[in-house]
Formats: sequence, structure tokens, C-alpha cells
Amino acid sequence: PQVNTSHDNSRITAVLPTGESIEVLLYGATVISWKDRAGNEKLWVSEAAKLDGTKAVRGGIPLVFPVFGTAPDHAATSQLPQHGFARTSRWEFLGKSTSESGPADASVKLDFGLSSNTLDDEAKKLWPYTFSAIYSVTLTADSLGTGIVVTNDGDKPFECQVLMHTYLRIKDITQVQVTGLEDSEYVDKVDAAQVKTQSGAVTITGETDRVYTPAQGPAEPVVVSEAGEAVYSVVRDNLKDVVVWNPWTEKAAGIADFAPKDGFKNMICIEAGAVRGWTALEPGDALEGAQTISI
Ligand code: BG6
Repeated sequence: PQVNTSHDNSRITAVLPTGESIEVLLYGATVISWKDRAGNEKLWVSEAAKLDGTKAVRGGIPLVFPVFGTAPDHAATSQLPQHGFARTSRWEFLGKSTSESGPADASVKLDFGLSSNTLDDEAKKLWPYTFSAIYSVTLTADSLGTGIVVTNDGDKPFECQVLMHTYLRIKDITQVQVTGLEDSEYVDKVDAAQVKTQSGAVTITGETDRVYTPAQGPAEPVVVSEAGEAVYSVVRDNLKDVVVWNPWTEKAAGIADFAPKDGFKNMICIEAGAVRGWTALEPGDALEGAQTISI
């Protein structure tokens, strides 16, 4: 595998011998491209997304930490901006590891780091805990994996949430079915946060913003199908929740960096995380979570 750093040191690209590739911005450690060997893009990124570090990227895989959404009632994170600071902080590139027993099964892992030592002063003021995070992005011929380890390096406990806000590219949202969430409880964020139970597959016919806690557990894949054909399968490791988000017409119209405005037809966010309730980390404890998206 080939791993390159851009000239201005703002992004890392990796290409497998068989042609698959990924691109990761150091800003937010945001994965902004994942292409299969034919060069087909698997992630949706808005045409109006800012990639210059002035705003969280609208698309790709922004990383949500230490708070999902905003938490006005959670004192420790109530000051933080929506979805926390991970997606708007500059991460360090820690290096790559590659494996290649033959060109057909090559893989590459890129590691990124963020800690209270490298965090900017403003974020540090809003969330004064001592932590370190390592985020790993792994590309194989037919999958993309993202995993995070957050360690409490300080002397007081903290509570956090984490989520990989993955914008999957699809051809036509009206043809999409999401399976693996049957019989699962979810919080419906577009219906007064009511708790409901999913019956059957999920289809998208309007603004959708739901936090599922899948009944089947993390190893059961969440599968996105289009016109009956499975296109993505998401397996989680130690991430109990799955957010399903599509802004649909009106919400997309109101999001300044969402373009084209009918781009909601070509994306669905399937977001693996631990966001219902909080994960408490005692000094020395670590939170580990990962997802693998297969095509
Ligand atoms: C989703 C949330 O995960 O992210 C939605 O459930 C939110 O409520 C969406 O609108 C996008 O958030 P943002 O901050 O990137 O506009």
C-alpha cells in the first residue's frame, strides 16, 4: 500500500495495490473519501463542505466526541458545541501499518491522535479533562474500518459519548432499506424524542433522525440495501447504538453547507456509536469502539 501526506500536511491518502483508496483530513481526522477499485466513491460529501478547517465537514465520517448533539442537562459537556470538539480539532498523524501477504489481500491502517495536550485552548477550557484518543482507519479491498480508543489519563472521572457519523453514498434514497434494526427500540428525534419500537426494515420517506439501540447486539450487521441488493453492511464492536439520519427536503434546504440541495437523495447516515446515556471513564479506564463497513 502507498501512503502519502499532502504537500500542505493537511491530509493523508492511502492506496492499495488493487486500487482502493481513502483520504483523511487531519482536521477532525475526518475520512472524506473511500473509493473501491473501480474508483466509485462510497461516502457522500457535500459539494459545499468546507475542507479547510473552518467548519466540521458536511459528509464523509466526522467523529463525534465527547458529546452527541448538545447536552444542556449534562453539566460537564453542556458548554460544548454540537457533537463536541473531535470533528473540529486538528489531529496528529501517528503513522501507518500495512500488511500484504499478496497484492489481493493488502490492507493499510492509519492512526491519528488527539489528547488534552494537543487540544486547542478553547476546547480545553470547555472540557477540562485529561484524555488521549487514538483513532484508526483501516482500508482493505472490500471494507473500511474505523476504531477509537479514548483513555482517561487524568485523576478525575469523566463521562462521554462517541459516534462515527458516517455519510454513506447511495443512488436513490427511495429505494433504500435498512435491515438489522428490526424490533429495536429507538428515540425518534423528529417526534418529540418519543421512544418507539421498529417493526420491519427501515425505509426513508421524510426527515429521519433516530437513535436505535439494536435488539440484536453489535455483531449483527446493519445492512443498507438498494432496490433489494445489499450495498453496505456495518458491523459494530462495543458500540451499542446506531443513529439513522436523513435530513430530507426542508432540513437539507436549511443546512448552509449541504449541496446540492437534493443531495439527501444520495446519502444515508448510519452512525455507529455509544450515545444513549453516557460512558463513564474512571482514571486509567479506556473506552474502545469500532465499526467495519463492508461492500
Ligand atoms: C445527526 C443528529 O447525528 O447529526 C442530527 O442525530 C443532526 O440531529 C445531524 O442534525 C447533523 O448534525 P450537524 O451538527 O453535523 O449538522
